Amino acid sequence: MRTSNLLLIVAAFVVSFQSIKGQNFMENIPGRNKTSINGQWKIIIDPYDRGMTDWTSIWKDRKPTGKTDFYEYSFEEGPSLEVPGDWNSQLPQLKYYEGTVWYKRSFNKNLLPGKRVFINFGAANYFTNVYVNNIEAGYHEGGFTPFQFEITELLNEGENDVIVRVNNERKVDAIPALHFDWWNYGGLTREVYLIETPETYIDDYFIQLKKGSSDQIKGWIKLAGEKSSQEFKISIHEAKVVFTGKTNSESYAEFEFKANISLWSPENPKLYKVEILCETDSLSDEIGFRTIETNGLDILLNGNPVFLKGINFHEEVPQRSGRAYSNADALMLLNWSKELGCNFIRLAHYPQNENIVRMAERMGFMLWEEIPLWQGINFSDKNIISKTRILLDEMITRDKNRCSIILWGMSNETRPAPDRDHVITQMVQHTREADPTRLITSAFDEVSYENNTVTINDTLSRQLDVLAVNQYLGWYKAWPAKPTEMVWKSEFNKPLIMSEFGAEALYGISGPDDVASSWSEEYQAKVFTDQIQMFKQIPFLKGTCPWLLTDFRSPFRMHPVFQNEWNRKGLVSDKGFRKKAWYVLKDYYNSIDNDTYHNSAIKAE
Ligand code: GCU
Repeated sequence: MRTSNLLLIVAAFVVSFQSIKGQNFMENIPGRNKTSINGQWKIIIDPYDRGMTDWTSIWKDRKPTGKTDFYEYSFEEGPSLEVPGDWNSQLPQLKYYEGTVWYKRSFNKNLLPGKRVFINFGAANYFTNVYVNNIEAGYHEGGFTPFQFEITELLNEGENDVIVRVNNERKVDAIPALHFDWWNYGGLTREVYLIETPETYIDDYFIQLKKGSSDQIKGWIKLAGEKSSQEFKISIHEAKVVFTGKTNSESYAEFEFKANISLWSPENPKLYKVEILCETDSLSDEIGFRTIETNGLDILLNGNPVFLKGINFHEEVPQRSGRAYSNADALMLLNWSKELGCNFIRLAHYPQNENIVRMAERMGFMLWEEIPLWQGINFSDKNIISKTRILLDEMITRDKNRCSIILWGMSNETRPAPDRDHVITQMVQHTREADPTRLITSAFDEVSYENNTVTINDTLSRQLDVLAVNQYLGWYKAWPAKPTEMVWKSEFNKPLIMSEFGAEALYGISGPDDVASSWSEEYQAKVFTDQIQMFKQIPFLKGTCPWLLTDFRSPFRMHPVFQNEWNRKGLVSDKGFRKKAWYVLKDYYNSIDNDTYHNSAIKAE
């Protein structure tokens, strides 16, 4: 389109779709005026949470004044932890620690007139209390989503102290609950920033293609602050689009405008610089545009059937045995995934850090993101629905503008039951209202086996756009027939992703490929070969996602020789070495291209 035809639309359209309610943090932290307060924080290890008692009140950080004063804690003379970073992998005495750690960091801040200051946490696992200059700023529950508190009124001119209590004790009514197959890394596991904004700032926005359209952008913008009704402008200069509108008295506007854009895809992970301006604030974001939908048994990306060549990974860098959080960590996990030939990643089992999500988008990976509603959840807990809603809203709020995310995952291996079905149905409805543009799935392992036939009949499948099954034929369950004789049936005319499959092997162990307890690489490779043979018999299979990229730490895994607190289902060992199964999967993915896969043929035998 020529410059002279520069598209200038002055009307803000009101469209009838419910927006994603901004949670307690602003959108697009990377694009904000931010000051990092990462680095070394002083800590106090508080196993009995004494710091929350009136007697101790660590958050007051009192110092002795008179001759008879004394306090049985001090930050200054104590150890430090690096932030971001879990505490388990930093101090040997904290490897298994489940309890409270108090963090303290001082910072200088000169508050400019008309400015506001927020403290923003990428995540902290699991319960977090934040105090600024010994006044509580706020509390957050949840280990894998951002949160922030305004601290404008709490600031001193010059030096300020922030004290944070983080407690990672597992609870029966937490999400995840008491037992989960990953390490319970605690602490300030992601970045901490001070964000400075004007008095009225751009708080949140949603800018994506309208569902079903490849050239109509539809979205909304929400301001926060006194000056609610403002002119705003959205510019995508490379696409020669400028849209202007006006927020209403609720500081909010919905809009829709045409844009001739190059669609994002794994082959062309095109992102546009989108500038968002209002009278009092401005910021920019890198946003891609694509369509995602299903059509019968197919998943369509930009209208074309796609096969998801996937991999699972936890947010953990095996060589450091700690929570991943940095761009360097993201690059390691994503480069391995790229080398495997993947175009899809299931970010198991919780919203992973924004560095991984944004880098995956730049590298062209389609993503499945989920909240950690993992196995033993207490669905009769009266607060479960509100808790899942908060976590869903936090996940969707942060990543709703990341076009690489094509699937929101509701749960993992929850057992069919009336209260579970009720809760997850509510979650699906809430997710659809919050974000009508993406597909919804949930990983089940409840399938029925009858001889060589596997039937997908989980009651919840009706609610989902894409079915997903975790199955461990060849590992937790012996093959009931030859892989090539297996028949999969579904009562639902929907695409299927095999969202988990695999087996354990200790890198370097060589042994028979038909003896599971050999923990051999050959056995694991044979499971992959057999699984792949079975996949060819499943015409409605549109994605495979092995469990998983790398060995990872888990208290579940107690064999002193072969596991030693590591889950060994990785295709890559805890030292970064590739196992034999890596090459089986890599050959499989290289043998697939979207055009040929429909007839479930593998080009190269
Ligand atoms: C389950 C679960 C994973 C777990 C895996 C395993 O399906 O979803 O979180 O790690 O199986 O048993 O290794």
